[in-house]
Amino acid sequence: MRRKIVAGNWKMNLSWDEAKSLLLGINNFVNRHKPESKVIVCPPFPFLDRANDIFIGHASVGAQNISEFENGAYTGEISGSILNSIGVHYTIVGHSERRKYFHETNEQIGEKVAMAIKKGIKTIVCCGETGEERESGNQNNVVKEQLDVALKNISPEDMVRQIIAYEPVWAIGTGQTASPSQAQEMHAFIRNEVLEPLFGADVANEVRILYGGSVNSGNADDLFSQPDIDGGLIGGASLKLDDFTSIIHAAE
Ligand code: G3P
Repeated sequence: MRRKIVAGNWKMNLSWDEAKSLLLGINNFVNRHKPESKVIVCPPFPFLDRANDIFIGHASVGAQNISEFENGAYTGEISGSILNSIGVHYTIVGHSERRKYFHETNEQIGEKVAMAIKKGIKTIVCCGETGEERESGNQNNVVKEQLDVALKNISPEDMVRQIIAYEPVWAIGTGQTASPSQAQEMHAFIRNEVLEPLFGADVANEVRILYGGSVNSGNADDLFSQPDIDGGLIGGASLKLDDFTSIIHAAE
């Protein structure tokens, strides 16, 4: 049985005062309720170190991005070594907003994934189609291409510790969530038609595949009850303590 994961992607939001209050609330909740699921919170970079000081016990922090380069003259970038030095062991890679606004390619995302693994950092590798790609029935080809390239540098031994997040772009921040059956169909495709050919059935069955895209306290139960949905990567709803803790409950 795969342990579910509930990860919060805060994106570029909150002041430190707001973040501290939310982190304290999440830490109190997870240490009081000790949920079965793994809770990961990905705040903006400047808050990571202080978030680690607050998260004593059950929850973990993660980065929202990582450089594909080692250290050096890469202004504005954050390396795996720097993340390691402050005890960060997870990072999102290849979010659709990185692809859209910062033009990250599948190849670049693959390099980021390889670098993260080299530094011992577990990745949440994002994939997902646009509305136009789904309307044309091309979603499977798009997602398969994204993951085939992003995961091509990874061994089965390393892949089993990585996490996939399927985030249909048309559902991100729109309130238009994929239906449980739509999400389950894509998760099963990722597990059986993408991961299994690349890494074998045993690894494919162990990898957690999260759904992201307008998850909220009203739809989390139905989504997380699907056999191949192993939790969620939560955006807007992760910024509100009651919503985020309700989603953690739904992952039980
Ligand atoms: O990475 C998660 C994010 O893209 C989903 O955003 O606001 O639709 O939950 P949201």
